[in-house]
Amino acid sequence: MRELKAELLSILTAMPGSKSPHAEAERILLRVLSVARPELDTFGKLYLLDPVPTSLERKQALDLAQARASGVPLQHLLGEQTFLDRDYAVNPSTLIPRPETEVLFISCAEWISKRKPGDRLRFGELGLGSGVLSCELLVRFSSASGVASEASPAAIELAQSNLSRWCGVDWSSRLTILPVSADQAFEVLLPHAPFDLIISNPPYVARGDEIEPEVARHEPESALFPWNDDPDFFYVDFVTKASRLMAPGGAAFFEIPHERADRIEAEFQKSGAKQVCLIPDLTGRPRVLRAEF
Ligand SMILES: C[S@@+](CC[C@H](N)C(=O)[O-])C[C@H]1O[C@@H](n2cnc3c(N)ncnc32)[C@H](O)[C@@H]1O
Repeated sequence: MRELKAELLSILTAMPGSKSPHAEAERILLRVLSVARPELDTFGKLYLLDPVPTSLERKQALDLAQARASGVPLQHLLGEQTFLDRDYAVNPSTLIPRPETEVLFISCAEWISKRKPGDRLRFGELGLGSGVLSCELLVRFSSASGVASEASPAAIELAQSNLSRWCGVDWSSRLTILPVSADQAFEVLLPHAPFDLIISNPPYVARGDEIEPEVARHEPESALFPWNDDPDFFYVDFVTKASRLMAPGGAAFFEIPHERADRIEAEFQKSGAKQVCLIPDLTGRPRVLRAEF
């Protein structure tokens, strides 16, 4: 297996912009070898056992590394991404969940944990995507129920399969998915208001922002850019409707671009929130905005 890892590494390190070839080689080996050996759930165990790959496993691993080296995200090749401690199905219909979005969820979970235990938590999400945020809310907080909007029918299908996997077959008794068109925003949540919690990682990339070629090629435009190319569209729209969306004592959590954090924070000062604050991501840059009502 060590020889195969070395072969994978030489393919992956030759890839332009290669960032974590070791971790990616190990993920490929774990996937390929664990098909036949499900007990090999961590790479540490794999190293200890040092299994001899079959010729089929070797071919599968090399094919995956070649496809990865051509620029396809490993998550699309493996069909999954870990978010917090669960593996979620992913595909090109929506954004691959990011570590920054884990910060968004954790900030929100900390706020929920300070509420009175068992208090009803009615939430709304804009931009369900693969379903990671709504799904984590349902799994971790039994008092949570809500609605989530999404503009891509293929992303809705993906989220439904993730919700069925992690939240049980009757997840739809706790979450209503609202299929919308890309030019709709918080007005679709208004009939379901008031909310104790709004959470969203909306499309927020500005045209002209530098984005990695791999992201531009493999992740959908509609998950990155707002439909009208106004990068602050969803934030401003929330601010204009916040007083009708939020229940007293509720809070809204948004993922935001750190480059425009100050401007977006200033916009939220007009929302009627009692307190607005910015929360840093793992690199120390402002990435989450919390507004308390
Ligand atoms: C940045 S992704 C976030 C996905 C997921 N919540 C996450 O955090 O990984 C934004 C999502 O919003 C969806 N979207 C785009 N325009 C929308 C709109 N007007 N209303 C609701 N969802 C929209 C996209 O299809 C995409 O799935």
